[in-house]
Amino acid sequence: MRATWDGQPISAEPPFGATVVVFRFYGGATEVLLLHRAHHGPEYAGDWAWTPPAGARLPGEAVDACARRELLEETGLELPLELTECGSAEWPHYVAEARHGAEIRLDAEHDRFEWVTADEAPMRCLPDLMRLPLAAIERIHGSRAVGGGAFYDQAAVFETYMAHRARPESPNEAIEGPALLDVLGEVRGLRVLDLGCGDGRFGRLLLDRGAAGYVGIDGSRLMVERAAPGLNVRHARIEEFAAPAASFDVVVSRLALHYVENLAPVFDKVRAALTPVGRFVFSVEHPVITSSDRAWGGRGQRQEWVVDEYFVTGRRETDWLGARVVKFHRTVEDYVRLVQSSGFSLETLREPGPTRAAIASEDEFRRRQRIPLFLLIAAAAD
Ligand SMILES: C[S@@+](CC[C@H](N)C(=O)[O-])C[C@H]1O[C@@H](n2cnc3c(N)ncnc32)[C@H](O)[C@@H]1O
Repeated sequence: MRATWDGQPISAEPPFGATVVVFRFYGGATEVLLLHRAHHGPEYAGDWAWTPPAGARLPGEAVDACARRELLEETGLELPLELTECGSAEWPHYVAEARHGAEIRLDAEHDRFEWVTADEAPMRCLPDLMRLPLAAIERIHGSRAVGGGAFYDQAAVFETYMAHRARPESPNEAIEGPALLDVLGEVRGLRVLDLGCGDGRFGRLLLDRGAAGYVGIDGSRLMVERAAPGLNVRHARIEEFAAPAASFDVVVSRLALHYVENLAPVFDKVRAALTPVGRFVFSVEHPVITSSDRAWGGRGQRQEWVVDEYFVTGRRETDWLGARVVKFHRTVEDYVRLVQSSGFSLETLREPGPTRAAIASEDEFRRRQRIPLFLLIAAAAD
């Protein structure tokens, strides 16, 4: 009878084993758990080095029991499994969602593990055969909501978003932008960091107005690729940005922070990156909007808004730009508390509304008078 590396018997009948692709949502991206086999040492990166949890079926064992057992033995995780159509009758593929922070306990066969973005995972898994189970994650991408950069990296979403932004009556251009510039004030001579900068168009404007420097970071590769040549726009997640202490005079973030689950460490890093007289100016989708998308199917022009579950903060999924997106709802008070807890003093809080100067159409002006779309906060580091 055939046996595994540790002497366990392997079923002579199909299915011979199962793979479990474990994923989690982190910082708006989908990450996959990969295990590193110990057989050639921790630095080995060739064939069979990195794989999702997988293993052989014992004679007579039910295949889903095999998948659950292998997952538990190799990672210490006990998760609900979903069978996908990506595998075969000989070797089925399951997916399982882990929560962020779940503890991984490796078995003796493995010496390392990593959470790798869904984009990077196929490059790690060799030979090609080992990439096949990762197709299950693409299906998840297609059917489930994604957040942050991954959302904007969907080609159709990206193009639709860009087309929205090009409209003169786009609320970003007509309402949020002018209000943010007003609160920001003079930028001449200032070094600016922009979190979730998109294609960096705001950087171009700030440099034209005399800013001494501009660094933008964005989690979407398509956004970064669209940035004007020569503009300092980098591909990075807001959750992971690193900046030398006191290296910026202003940190801005426009309509990106509601994609970030845990803002407290981000705000702490922002304060450390600012000079002692620096300022943090950011806009987010207004909490009355993020609270609930009831009364809206995600298509056509929204005519009614429902504010609901306002004090139930956290993850929200909604249809937008033709796909599902994950955002994080917080109350207005939460944003103020986050700012103050990181040692900032609150300078300005605004809920910008429409101005006749920016919105020519009477119908559009009245529509934009109905409900706030944006919350804008300026905070001082001193
Ligand atoms: C609504 S767009 C705004 C872009 C730009 N700030 C502007 O106002 O033109 C939101 C941007 O935030 C980025 N983003 C969302 N979550 C992010 C994250 N966790 N890390 C980095 N970028 C993120 C998206 O890729 C997208 O470019």
